Amino acid sequence: MHIHETIAGLRAALKEAGPTKRVALVPTMGNLHEGHVALMTQARGLADTVVATIFVNRLQFRPGEDFDKYPRTFQSDGDKLAAAGVDHLFAPDEAEMYPQPQGYHVEPPPEHANIIEGEFRPGHFRGVATVVMKLFQIVQPDTALFGKKDFQQLLVIRNMARDFNLPIEIVAGETVRAADGLALSSRNGYLSEAERLEAPRLFRTLTKVVSNIRNGNRDFATLERQALAEMAEHGWSPDYIAVRNKIDLQLPTAHESRLVVLAAARLGSTRLIDNLEV
Ligand code: PAJ
Repeated sequence: MHIHETIAGLRAALKEAGPTKRVALVPTMGNLHEGHVALMTQARGLADTVVATIFVNRLQFRPGEDFDKYPRTFQSDGDKLAAAGVDHLFAPDEAEMYPQPQGYHVEPPPEHANIIEGEFRPGHFRGVATVVMKLFQIVQPDTALFGKKDFQQLLVIRNMARDFNLPIEIVAGETVRAADGLALSSRNGYLSEAERLEAPRLFRTLTKVVSNIRNGNRDFATLERQALAEMAEHGWSPDYIAVRNKIDLQLPTAHESRLVVLAAARLGSTRLIDNLEV
């Protein structure tokens, strides 16, 4: 696996590989786990050349969020990527990605950026869309892979690619979970031992809401309220539990069957997100 810290170095290597090679991109912020590795494996099956990126993108963190303490584990990340068959790792520093403060941004529309996760993290999806657009321009992949774990992020990027006519196929990866149901996340490492035991409640609560809906309960507001109360009873501070149309994340109409249940909640000082399709 080749490691590149500069845009010029990566571009030269990709050019050398040849213009007919199909390139797949998997952007990450590092501290890699099996969820990331699954995306790399999926990418390997779709392309001749797999490019992974590791860059903790300041633009998508708000002041007071965990940008500074976000786990940086470059050595072991590199080992995992090499073992997964990644060809190129692009790992720029901030000066390479943002040599001057980013002046132009990709602004997702409010109906995608200001709802659900965006309501609690204003500006987050603008930061994500902007860095992903930069990575797309730097790598110019044929395909780019994103996990369903970040369901709203996947929707924002799909719509950005469509609205800007990017010649990039956006491919979704299924959420990888621990045996007890907890979705793998770099932020799980913040949990204490006791919190780690409590953490799968988020998945169990989503599972309960989904099975209620599958059994014909369409009173989404009550289901959301009960789920929020149950989380709170067990010491969580939930931000939202939301039943939405999975195509556009808007409130579902009366007979909509394409549904997803999304949730974010804090356990101690750790904020976890997850979702489950109905
Ligand atoms: P990061 O949180 O590192 O995630 C990188 C990719 O891995 C994302 O597409 C995310 O959805 C996916 N992923 C995370 N946990 C997963 C799991 N348990 N199962 C399957 N896929 C999972 O998401 C970001 O970084 C950033 O916002 C980024 C897109 C890199 C832009 O900075």
